[in-house]
Amino acid sequence: MTLKDYAALVEEKLEALLPEAEKKTPAIGEMPWLLQNAMRYSLMAGGKRLRPAMLLACADMLGVPRKEAMLPACALEMIHTYSLIHDDLPGMDNDTLRRGRPTNHVVFGEGQAILAGDGLLSLAMQLLIENALAHPGNQAGETRAMNEIIRGAGVLGMVGGQCMDLYCERERVMDEDMLSYIHMNKTARMLTSPLLAAAALAGYGEDSPQWRALTAYGVNFGLLFQAVDDILDVTGDEKTLGKSTGKDAAEGKLTYVTLYGLEGAREKAAALARQAENSLDVFGEKAAFFRDLLASMENRVS
Ligand code: IPE
Ligand code: IPE
Ligand code: MG
Ligand code: MG
Ligand code: MG
Repeated sequence: MTLKDYAALVEEKLEALLPEAEKKTPAIGEMPWLLQNAMRYSLMAGGKRLRPAMLLACADMLGVPRKEAMLPACALEMIHTYSLIHDDLPGMDNDTLRRGRPTNHVVFGEGQAILAGDGLLSLAMQLLIENALAHPGNQAGETRAMNEIIRGAGVLGMVGGQCMDLYCERERVMDEDMLSYIHMNKTARMLTSPLLAAAALAGYGEDSPQWRALTAYGVNFGLLFQAVDDILDVTGDEKTLGKSTGKDAAEGKLTYVTLYGLEGAREKAAALARQAENSLDVFGEKAAFFRDLLASMENRVS
């Protein structure tokens, strides 16, 4: 299966989880149509579906039943989409274009956009818990998978990284250690957690060679992914990318490009891809999806 195949599975499940709602006074026990449609607006706007695809591909590689992996995969995409809605807010990166559409706050207003993000995050938590309750035979695996996803998204992951990203922008910090912290946390953690969630569902312990290999791949892949994102902010095309470009330098963001220059960022990305590839040896032929993903993400234009 390719990234596209996995993305199509995720798309179908997300559509079922969050269908279009009709405007009417909400009944008790019902989600307001406005919240549902604002969440849907960003969630169903396309996107590569990379994080859920990585979770499903890793589940396949490790022999986890698709049925058990699907809700955690969708939860991860909801958390990612919430992070994008909030990342675009005027108080953060102040962007007006995302996934080829006007950003959530441009359409629904800032207050509703904040709530759409909150809604996606809390719905994701709900789905994770419901999935755990539906698989009582794998209580430890389910709990450990939730732990990976929630930690990667939170104060020790994405939220922590976003905090230092804004801090460094505001305070004009240009420092190598701070850049590592930001990229590791705002991006790489949420590209590692899908792999570790699948490994947890499969019952691999944290000391296993598989767990260590997936951690190494996820971290190097995640840093590569953000390095390319930083490069595309300079070299990319707004229409193809579906988001605005040229903002990082203009706002004084701490990125691979603003710190190392375009060529330096490209060299770092290539080195990270090599390191990620090396960590896949333990899986042999079974890791073909993740080998292919490296090349396609290093050379992506969107
Ligand atoms: C964008 O993520 C935010 C970063 C972490 C760089 P993606 O490039 O995966 O965005 P979508 O999901 O395809 O829109
Ligand atoms: C944001 O990084 C990563 C997130 C956690 C959303 P960026 O701010 O560089 O992402 P884009 O370029 O807006 O997608
Ligand atoms: Mg940002
Ligand atoms: Mg941004
Ligand atoms: Mg960016």
